[in-house]
Amino acid sequence: MLRPWKTILAIDFNHQLSVYQQIADGIVAEIKKGRLKPGSPLPGSRILAEDIGVNRKTVVLAYEGLIAEGWLESADKRGTFVAAELPTLKKAASRTHSSFEFNETEIAPIPAKTNSGFIVFNDGLPDVRLAPLDELARAYKRIFQQKARWRMLGYGHEQGEERLRTALTGMLSSRRGMNTGEADICITRGSQMALFLTAQTLIRPGDSVAMECPGYLPAWQTFVHAGAYMINIGVDDKGLMVEELEQVCRTKKLKAVYVTPHHQFPTTVSMKMERRLKLMELSARYGFAVIEDDYDHEFHFDAKSLLPLASDERAANVIYISSLSKLVAPAVRIGYVTGPPAFIASLARLRALVDRQGDPIMEQAIAELMEQGAINRHAKRAARFYRERREAMSEYLHTHLDKKISFKKPEGGLAYWVKINRDINTEELAAKLLKKGVSIIPTERFSFNGKPLNALRLGYASLTPAELEEGIRLLATVLKKS
Ligand SMILES: Cc1ncc(COP(=O)(O)O)c(C=O)c1O
Repeated sequence: MLRPWKTILAIDFNHQLSVYQQIADGIVAEIKKGRLKPGSPLPGSRILAEDIGVNRKTVVLAYEGLIAEGWLESADKRGTFVAAELPTLKKAASRTHSSFEFNETEIAPIPAKTNSGFIVFNDGLPDVRLAPLDELARAYKRIFQQKARWRMLGYGHEQGEERLRTALTGMLSSRRGMNTGEADICITRGSQMALFLTAQTLIRPGDSVAMECPGYLPAWQTFVHAGAYMINIGVDDKGLMVEELEQVCRTKKLKAVYVTPHHQFPTTVSMKMERRLKLMELSARYGFAVIEDDYDHEFHFDAKSLLPLASDERAANVIYISSLSKLVAPAVRIGYVTGPPAFIASLARLRALVDRQGDPIMEQAIAELMEQGAINRHAKRAARFYRERREAMSEYLHTHLDKKISFKKPEGGLAYWVKINRDINTEELAAKLLKKGVSIIPTERFSFNGKPLNALRLGYASLTPAELEEGIRLLATVLKKS
């Protein structure tokens, strides 16, 4: 390929760098950009010298330097080539000897969502095969085709696109009984970012935060990272044990309590009304924030679906977090947080430091789908599949594992909590199951006090009934043998 070397190398004879060094740097830059691939030929020194208007010896000097450094190699009479193996690896390795100190993130990485088996029991994800992809693609296209589309390519509001905030507040009001203004909502990249910003805005190092145990590990880690002292509160078949919380409140000043009342993570229990009222009463009496993580609100199958704590008229202390990860798909990365206006304003200023703003195009596309009712239609359709799979799961658990386990069909949410009627190490169980092509999530990670849970959280919504049956059958086989 004939390259415009005169333009690429653009020699400056007045530059403080010598001409041969400028040639060498220019060639290395081309290699790093990937425009000169390993093994590609360089022009002969005479040709290049004439092309860029320098002495041939200068080019030879540059080539020799690059050969010595390993960027180029010469092949006898055939000419000079970019080295087949570039010296970048050596450079990268030298980075391991940096001499500055930094803040080590002392959080063990949460293993990526298990997806290495044929049959994956995740922790309660939606079936992304059902996601309204065509509708989303069409909305995306329309947004790119609209008049004055250039407007959305600049910087936007740190709280997110107003159009989506309006759509969300409408949905929160009509479906979740919440009274939220557009100014009191901040759109984030998923609930996880909302949790992180909430923790950073709320917690000072040493503050005490209580949370459900067993519970959602990334939330626990997020509070620990913010410097919180964590207090575990038990969970039973009515949800968070508020009497235990009250005992703690009597001796300790709590900054916040994190809860998943709609479908407790991981046990799936819906928090009963009397517990909710007590939690709100304690929050008002002792002045702590309630962080309500409503991560899968839409899929509730029991006749009685309670409204979020944030819909209560005494919800002044409630910070409400939710997202579209379960409703549409985790990769959409649209979450949001609502709460007291001054708190949200402060959180949004922090958000601007981390990420400046969200993704205005995706936010507008989702707003359009909400306005058109496409998201509601999708929720209804997906719920039909999940209802059927929830029934199938219950049947297969009875058929294959009956005496070995106990479980309650979840009132809602996309996972089952299955208790195993004996002591079990779920890390070992997971390893054995993987050999049969089935992935489960080791449950040890949901316990923050080291107590064994002898249970499994089995997401059922993303598997077809046939996949569910095969997965449960293999689980039963492995359990029998272990
Ligand atoms: C309890 C709970 N909270 C928050 C999240 C985070 O979801 P996202 O960041 O995808 O909105 C999840 C995801 O699985 C979850 O289970």
